This record gives sequence, structure tokens and C-alpha cells, in this order.
Amino acid sequence: MNCGLSPLLLAQSLILLPSSDSQLLGMEQKVQSAKKRELMYWYLASRGVPKSLHCLCLKLAEEYAVNAMARSCLPPPEHVSRLADTSFNHIVLLTDNVLAASVVISSTVENAANPEKLVFHIVTDKKTYSPMHAWFATNTLKSAVVEVKGLHQYDWSQEVNVGVKQMLEIHHLICSHYYNNLKENDLDYGGEHQNFLEALSPSCLSLMNHLRIYIPELFPELNKIAFLDDDVVVQHDISSLWTLDLNGKIVGAVVDSWCGENCCPGRKYKDYLNFSHPVIPSHLDQDSCAWLSGMNIFDLEAWRRSNITSSYHKWLKLSLNSGFTLWQPGVLPPSLLAFQGHVHPIDPLWQVAGLGYRSSSAGGQILEAAAVLHFNGPAKPWLEIGSPEVRSLWSRHVNFSNSFIQKCRVLH
Ligand SMILES: *[C@@H]1O[C@H](CO)[C@@H](O)[C@H](O)[C@H]1NC(C)=O
Ligand SMILES: *[C@@H]1O[C@H](CO)[C@@H](O)[C@H](O)[C@H]1NC(C)=O
Ligand SMILES: *[C@@H]1O[C@H](CO)[C@@H](O)[C@H](O)[C@H]1NC(C)=O
Repeated sequence: MNCGLSPLLLAQSLILLPSSDSQLLGMEQKVQSAKKRELMYWYLASRGVPKSLHCLCLKLAEEYAVNAMARSCLPPPEHVSRLADTSFNHIVLLTDNVLAASVVISSTVENAANPEKLVFHIVTDKKTYSPMHAWFATNTLKSAVVEVKGLHQYDWSQEVNVGVKQMLEIHHLICSHYYNNLKENDLDYGGEHQNFLEALSPSCLSLMNHLRIYIPELFPELNKIAFLDDDVVVQHDISSLWTLDLNGKIVGAVVDSWCGENCCPGRKYKDYLNFSHPVIPSHLDQDSCAWLSGMNIFDLEAWRRSNITSSYHKWLKLSLNSGFTLWQPGVLPPSLLAFQGHVHPIDPLWQVAGLGYRSSSAGGQILEAAAVLHFNGPAKPWLEIGSPEVRSLWSRHVNFSNSFIQKCRVLH
């Protein structure tokens, strides 16, 4: 596999190390095992929330309590009607990370040809609600509209409540199953199971991360939304997303590669799903590229007409009943199954992913050309474990003149 472009591929070759092969010489085995160990520690490092981010949350929550400005209506009353107006371009973010949300939104607005057409909807958890609100109430963005909603403010039907609860329970069971296996095996796991490491990543257990399958319920009034993960940065105007023809499909996603033939921009189906299990549909091609999450355009009307959410639940139950042998831990595997046949491939330059894996400084042209860069992988740009060059593509959107960023010494 030679695609001439590296961050992602280097990353993949590190992540997908060859499996423990009896042919390997003793020395090579030791090197391999040391590499795996290091990789595991790297994943573990990603679990810690930096002090500066804690500080930011605390200071902003304080600000919310003492400063009426920080509690002012978001959006202001004169813009409330835009929240459900489908002539605007709606962007959804589910996150509990204020700094990450600020970068996603500033980078999108800065690069927008018509920022006044943008409406951002941030959904966050109860504990992050006041800091998130305080941030966006005191950092207004040109003419774009931002809404901040806490999950506690939703009044869902009993059916949705039960569904969300069940989904989380099963995801937690999956994560802890793999997590416990990692410990039991005392780091001595086969290379083919590298994706087990996802069980170590904080996103495995994150409610905000799994909630995306409920987007149609979270936004009953909207029909077309762009979904951005909080670990992305936007580099170009993305307004043409909303006029893309999805050909009757439900989600627009990068599937094909910018990296050449036989090379996937992310991973392959077989890297996520256990094709030895009889329940995994045999008509799926295990060598085809899995679509990328992180930056997607969704047709919510088509989604509501489909039974994708119930199919997703069906797959979760099958996973539970199979003793979690159907797929690797993570958000994507059950979505790959539930959304099969509903994905419309979009231009590969819409998203370049993998920036949170081991990377090099190569691939500059592609990095520049990409509309969205996605730091999926353990090295989130707000952590100190990633490469500084790649992180700077993200950190240039942090507002270092903001007094809270300064007080909390973010990225210092
Ligand atoms: C979804 O609905 C279609 C048509 O009603 C049906 O054929 C299919 O079996 C359903 N899939 C699931 C997973 O329920
Ligand atoms: C994949 O499925 C097969 C068949 O059920 C099972 O024996 C195997 O342990 C599974 N692999 C993983 C990694 O769970
Ligand atoms: C950065 O923060 C300062 C102080 O809060 C604010 O005045 C300025 O508008 C912000 N800049 C951007 C680009 O958001």
C-alpha cells in the first residue's frame, strides 16, 4: 500500500500491526511488543483531561453564576426563529468540550462565505451546560447563530428515554468487556485486535458520542443538517454541503479515497466487523472502505422515514447476545450495519481523517485542500501527545486573547 501520503497511513500501519506471527524472530517480537505497549500507554494518556480544560469549565461556570451577560439568551430573541427555519444551514455538535466546540465553530464561521446563513446547535450534558452557554454568550461570532442546549432540557417521550438508556447500557458493556480483557491479557494481545484499544478511549463511554443515533429526535423540526464531531477543524466554506444531492440516501460521507487505489481514507469493514460471525451479513464486502464519521450531511426526513434507529438497536441487542463478538468497540461499527445501503459517497476532500493517530508532517497539500480535518484517534489536538505541526492547524483557531483562555493557560 503506497499512497504517497502519510499521516493517516503511517498511523494505520502503526495501529494495524501484523498479528503475533510465529515466524517472527525473538528480537522482532520484543520490538513489536514494546511498540504495542507504547501505543497502549499513548491511548491511556488520552484519557486524562488536561487541567487547563477543567479550569476553563470551572471559570466559565463561575462566570455564568455571577455575570448576567454570560446568562443572556442564546440566541438573542430576534434570532430565535432561525433555529427551526430550514432556509438556514444547520450544523449539529454533540459535545461536552467547550474549547473544542469553540474551535469547530470559529473555524467554520471564519471560512464561511455567508456566516449569517449558519445556525449552530450545540447539545451538551447537564454539567457542561452553564460553561458552554457562558462561552458562547460572551464570544459572539459575526452574524452566525448559536444555540446551546443541555440534555436535561429535553422532554423526550418514554420510548426515546428507554431507547437512549438501553443504547448506553449496551455500549458501556461493550467498552468494559474489551477493557477488562485488555487488563486480563496483561498487554499480551494479538495485533489483529489493535482496535480493542478503542475501549481505552474516553469516547467509548461518552454519552454525547453515542447520542448521534438520536439526531432526528433531538431536532424534530430540521430536515437537513451537517454533523460535525468536536475533534474537527473546518478549513473552507462548507455551504455547498446543503445543496449536495444525496441521491435519496440518508447520509453523505467520505467513502472513497484521496490516497490512491486500494487505499481507504479510514479503515475497511473487516477492521470493524467480525466477518467470521454468521450474523454479520455476508453480502458486505469486508475489503471495502468504511465511510468516515466526523463530518457528515444527514437528510433527517429520509432518516425518519427509514428504520435506521431501530435497526441500530437491533444490532446492539445482537451484539449483546453474541457476547460482544460482532465488532470492535466504538461508535462506528453498529452504524456501519444500520446505515448499510443508505450512504452517499461525497468528494474525498470533504474530510481528511486520522490526524489523532501517529502522524508525520507529510501530506501538506492534502491537509490544506481538505475542507475538514478530523483528529480521530487518541492524540486530540487539546492534548499534548500529538505532533505540534498538525496540532497547530487546530490551535490557530483558539482565541488566545480571551481572558479565560489566558487565565487557564490553555495550550501553554
Ligand atoms: C426496515 O423496514 C423495511 C421495510 O418496511 C423492512 O423490509 C426491513 O426488514 C426493516 N428492517 C429492520 C431492520 O427492521
Ligand atoms: C468472531 O466470531 C467468531 C464466530 O462466532 C468467534 O469464534 C470469534 O471469537 C469472534 N472474534 C472476536 C474477536 O470476537
Ligand atoms: C477573542 O476574545 C476577545 C476577548 O474575549 C474578543 O474580544 C474577541 O472578539 C475574540 N475574537 C474572536 C475571533 O472570537
